Amino acid sequence: MLEFPPGFRFGVSTASYQIEGAVAEDGRGPSIWDTFAHTPGKVARGETGDVACDHYHRWESDLDLIAELGAGAYRFSVAWPRIQPTGDGPAVSAGLDFYDRLVDGLLARGIDPVATLFHWDLPQALQDQGGWSNRDTAMRFGEYAELVGERLGDRVKLWCTLNEPYIHFALGHVQGIHAPGQTLPPEGYPFVVHHLLLAHGLAVSALRRHSRAPITLANNYSPVWLAGDTDADRGAALFYDMVQNHLFTDPVLLGAYPAGFEALLAGVDVDAVVMEGDLDVISQPIEALGVNYYNPSLIGAPSGEDGLPFARLPIEGYPQSAFGWPVVPDGLRELLVGFKERYGEKLPPIWITESGTSWPDVDDQFRIDYISGHLEALQAAMRAGVEVHGYCTWSLMDNFEWAEGYGQRFGLVHVDFETQVRTKRRSFDWYRQVCTSAAPRP
Ligand code: NOJ
Repeated sequence: MLEFPPGFRFGVSTASYQIEGAVAEDGRGPSIWDTFAHTPGKVARGETGDVACDHYHRWESDLDLIAELGAGAYRFSVAWPRIQPTGDGPAVSAGLDFYDRLVDGLLARGIDPVATLFHWDLPQALQDQGGWSNRDTAMRFGEYAELVGERLGDRVKLWCTLNEPYIHFALGHVQGIHAPGQTLPPEGYPFVVHHLLLAHGLAVSALRRHSRAPITLANNYSPVWLAGDTDADRGAALFYDMVQNHLFTDPVLLGAYPAGFEALLAGVDVDAVVMEGDLDVISQPIEALGVNYYNPSLIGAPSGEDGLPFARLPIEGYPQSAFGWPVVPDGLRELLVGFKERYGEKLPPIWITESGTSWPDVDDQFRIDYISGHLEALQAAMRAGVEVHGYCTWSLMDNFEWAEGYGQRFGLVHVDFETQVRTKRRSFDWYRQVCTSAAPRP
């Protein structure tokens, strides 16, 4: 049986655009994901988050499910366009009211609210003014964080400023396969990266004024495996490790961009991007580091076909999820131990803010094996000296999986998107045992 220290929290994660629906209700403005999903050819089968899990109307029964699971934490995200429909100006009270009720509903059920401020649904109006390419978006994010902090700061137990800024940057602004669907020229990259980080820092400052809860940001991390031993392979792997694992972490934990960042500057003068004092804002102490882990990356020299400076190669010899992602639980231990080595005393306690797999069946031994393998790897990392405070599996229920639409199912709960009927998978019952008995409640 799995055993974790007293006070360790087990929970589940979701995100606003992936579950809420109700995209035009109570004053919500359009986000970049509304625009993107409604653009033909961008999302599988033309699916959108218009209805998703209809969680905006079903939140109470969804919270009952989380309570039934015995979860100690629920990570959700606040939709910025519900609070500020154009990303600017005063808060829409109906928008804040929704999250206020959600937070109270969680507390009433004995579940810690873990709130993410940005899980990719940028108000479209801000994109129209340049989105993350525009420094102003970071300023607006600080103001938005202030509004949310003011209203929820007395009750949220853990804040997460940004979700996976690397993925939002790479898939949304380089490859164009996520909203806002941009394929920026390389000289645009450092601006997007830096403004996301600055937004994180400004949100930390704002949240501190209203809340004593710990603050984190959640990144998608992946241990990098070398595909070959030529210099070109090694160079590609080093670069990949830098962008995915350190670019959005070193500035926060160490107050400096990682070696190799110059390669991203593409002739842009760094002073045009990084203003005086920015790195101090970005590197304010945070009390936790959010880790979203799914799989390692096997990296080799670039193929030249897609213009990327590395090639991601298939990892053979491991089970594969329905998404085709390799299942490598030990990668989580490898990642965390590597972080401890790199950041030492500067590494705050870890929260696993996401870990999970896509598997369609209701009888889902595959998901049970996945989570139990990752919890064992987490324990191995903890035995090796990494401090970990919580684990949230992705996800509570099947939801809108971005460019894949509803085709990939990550839930402990199956959702029939025609009828909105929720059906607990076998993994739900298994995870309930974990939530209720793997760590003594303090
Ligand atoms: C990470 C993202 O944060 C989440 O939105 C997504 O659904 C999962 N990965 C699975 O791809």
